[in-house]
Amino acid sequence: MAVAILVLIVSSLLVKFLNISFFADIRNLALIVSLILAVAELIKIIVGSMQNDGIFKYFWSLYLADCIRKSLLNTMDINIVKNAPIIEVPAVEVEFSDDKIKVYVSKLAGMSDIDKVREDIDSSFRGKYKAYAVVEAIASINGVEFSFTLEDVGTDRTFIPKTINDLVKKPYFLTLQKGLTINLAKYPHMAVWGRTGSGKTTVLMNIIAQCFSNDTDLLFIDGKTEFSSFSIFYPSSKIVTDNADVLNLLKHVTATIMERQKIIADEVKRRKKLGLTGFDLGLKPIVVIGDEIGSIVAGMTAKEKKQFVAYLTQIVQKGRSVSVFLIVASQSPAVDVLPNGIRSQFSTKILLGSASGDIQRMAFDVEITDGDVARFQGYYIIGGTSVLPQKYFVPNLFKYGL
Ligand SMILES: Nc1ncnc2c1ncn2[C@@H]1O[C@H](COP(=O)(O)OP(=O)(O)O)[C@@H](O)[C@H]1O
Ligand SMILES: [Mg+2]
Repeated sequence: MAVAILVLIVSSLLVKFLNISFFADIRNLALIVSLILAVAELIKIIVGSMQNDGIFKYFWSLYLADCIRKSLLNTMDINIVKNAPIIEVPAVEVEFSDDKIKVYVSKLAGMSDIDKVREDIDSSFRGKYKAYAVVEAIASINGVEFSFTLEDVGTDRTFIPKTINDLVKKPYFLTLQKGLTINLAKYPHMAVWGRTGSGKTTVLMNIIAQCFSNDTDLLFIDGKTEFSSFSIFYPSSKIVTDNADVLNLLKHVTATIMERQKIIADEVKRRKKLGLTGFDLGLKPIVVIGDEIGSIVAGMTAKEKKQFVAYLTQIVQKGRSVSVFLIVASQSPAVDVLPNGIRSQFSTKILLGSASGDIQRMAFDVEITDGDVARFQGYYIIGGTSVLPQKYFVPNLFKYGL
């Protein structure tokens, strides 16, 4: 484009001063080429603006892609390793979509470490997009491209409901923090870990309040008798603390699971439709809330513990399709509290406060930070394994005295 315009100017001047018709032809040609290129450029900008919702974001995407490219070139050892005479530049594309940003990077020889690329991307975001960081990193199956999803992770996302009306009223849906509402039918079971005072019970209280407001059937396993006050307005038979009561309640739940399986099987036959779930049939969700599961387990005999684990295993394995969900809190994610067979079934995992690398690996399979985590903050992961743990903020239910 720049070349075409330069030729256009030079040839125009030559025509003007020397009056040679040969230059007039060149000038006309350059004019046409310039116009075509200008139209092409304009189309590119329009398409880019549409893809990135807005011309400003489009230019931001070009700028950010450039920053990432530079950062990759600065830190990558690929060209040195390969001793290449020309420097290969990876293709980088940045695209805005809603409140997320996608980054695509073509994979060059020697660029095998996706984590290193992620660090370069994280450090490249600046200006008003400084708070964005990679939350998902995927290498394409054929191995030619990395794709990253970035979200605003720096901004405080504490959920602060002002009134009961701010609590979601739809069964199955739970708001865990600002901008994060999950559907239990999709992400059924949840674990919250953290030291005493890190905010576990508060996380549960937020969930409980939402379940009460949307008429979910709640059952409480109450290791520290923090929920006993609910018995003023809630059947006390659904709030248990003693070992025998806990096991009895869970036995009941597993019986309900079997009943519901039968209801769904009948419905599948009647509608001749496979794969129906409790969610599809609009069954009332049953949520088993267990707080301080560790102290419950610690107080059980070996036989009781075995039974307890067997019941919980049933719930996490069969609960989803019949809308029976398990949400537990305990101080430690170690297997002496709940065995790996149960731990691996939690689709939502939250680890609050500072924790050792070992604890982080137990919770998420990866170590996230070696630094301190602020009070009432932590990390969470939902679903897939390619997703990196993200910042979690314990809801603030006290600000407006809920
Ligand atoms: N987001 C928050 N902001 C301010 N205070 C909080 C927040 N979350 C919890 N707290 C307070 O911190 C204390 C400990 O929280 P709690 O949920 O009981 O922790 P845990 O169950 O992990 O021991 C409680 O007094 C609670 O009121
Ligand atoms: Mg607690």
